[in-house]
Formats: sequence, structure tokens, C-alpha cells
Amino acid sequence: MTTPDPADRVLARASLAEGDPTGWFERLYTAAARGEAEVPWTRGKPNPELAAWARRHPGEGRRALLVGSALGDDAEQLAAAGWAVTAFDVAPTAVESARARFPESRVDYVVADLLNPPGEWHHAFDLVVEIINIQAMPRAFRAAAVAALAGFLAPGGTALVSEVAEENNEPEPGPPWPFSRAEIESVAQDGVRLVSLETIRDGDRYWATFTR
Ligand SMILES: C[S@@+](CC[C@H](N)C(=O)[O-])C[C@H]1O[C@@H](n2cnc3c(N)ncnc32)[C@H](O)[C@@H]1O
Repeated sequence: MTTPDPADRVLARASLAEGDPTGWFERLYTAAARGEAEVPWTRGKPNPELAAWARRHPGEGRRALLVGSALGDDAEQLAAAGWAVTAFDVAPTAVESARARFPESRVDYVVADLLNPPGEWHHAFDLVVEIINIQAMPRAFRAAAVAALAGFLAPGGTALVSEVAEENNEPEPGPPWPFSRAEIESVAQDGVRLVSLETIRDGDRYWATFTR
């Protein structure tokens, strides 16, 4: 007997075969809502490295943009640390679920696509957070996604970027499609500079900070 592929990979392959890099996320969230699939990245609590960073960096009302907000745990963590958070996801069901989970939230949850973001977000955020979203799209979309990400950062701001590290993981058919060190460093473009780059979780992921 062969082991069935997890639902996210099955949905991803069908979506990609249609030339659509992101449609499978909405299908996965709605299947999960029906109890027919699991969303593998759902933790029910914030990313621990982001939580630790937020404790050391209170927002004091400054603007933060969270990419790929999923069910909202990371966005709420940043809001609790005093950041004025805009959090977006390409999957409408994820955005609706985040709003429903946190009805009193001060976070502005928005449906938007990193590959075609609102123009007013250009250079608009003091903090930009990208955690394991770009790696969930095929590599053909990476350069465009990284350029959009870099474009959000305001002068003097900070971007936090974390992706699975290709150098420390066995090659597997995606998703995810891990990042090389050079791909992480490529966020430093168009006036953005790399501040630090380390591996976390025993080398499994990169954690990089940038400024403009
Ligand atoms: C692998 S999950 C990671 C979620 C969260 N960042 C975390 O660390 O758990 C990727 C998330 O990004 C969203 N996403 C994927 N492509 C996107 C895009 N082009 N624009 C906005 N959100 C996207 C998906 O819907 C999904 O919620």
C-alpha cells in the first residue's frame, strides 16, 4: 500500500497544473473548514521566534505588514506588542477565519496577493514580516515575490524573513520549495540592506533581518 500524499500537496499539484500558484490555499482552507483536510502550518499560537523578537521590539504605534497571515496568530502577537498591523493573505477563508477568531482585534485583516499588492503599500511599513510564505509558491514566482516584499519596507524600517533552508534539508517535491542563502540575501535590493542572517531550529530555517 502506498502512503497517500498529504492533502496540501495534492491540492497544490492540481492548482499548479492549471498554472495557478496560489489557488490551492483557498481550496485547502475551505476543505479544512469542512473537516476534510488539515492545514499543516496551523499551530494555534504565534511563531516562537517572532514572539521573542516582538517582546524585544515594541511597536509604539508604528506600522507593520504581515505577509501570509493564515489564521492570525502572528498578526495578533505583533498587535499585542504595540504594532499597528495590516495582515494579508491570498485565501479569503483564511482572512475570514482570522477575523472570526479575533473579533475584538485591532489588526486590519485584508485579502491581497503578494504577487500583485496594493500600490499604496510601497515603502509604507516600519516592519515587514515574511515567514514561510514565499517558499510555498513555485520558484518561478520567487523573484517577483521577493521584489514585492522588499518594496513594502519604509526607510529606517525592519524586514524579518524566515524560510526553510535548502542547504540543510533533503530535496523533496514541493511545496515547500526551500530557499538558498543567496535567495534570502536577494531581499537586499532596491535600497534594502541585509543586517543579519542566521539559521534557527537546528539549521532547518533561515532567520534574516533587513533594513532600508
Ligand atoms: C505555508 S503558509 C504559512 C502561514 C504563516 N505565515 C505561518 O508562518 O504559519 C502560507 C500562507 O501564505 C498564504 N499565501 C500564499 N501565497 C500568497 C500570496 N501570493 N499572497 C498572499 N498570501 C499568500 C497562504 O494562503 C497561507 O496562508
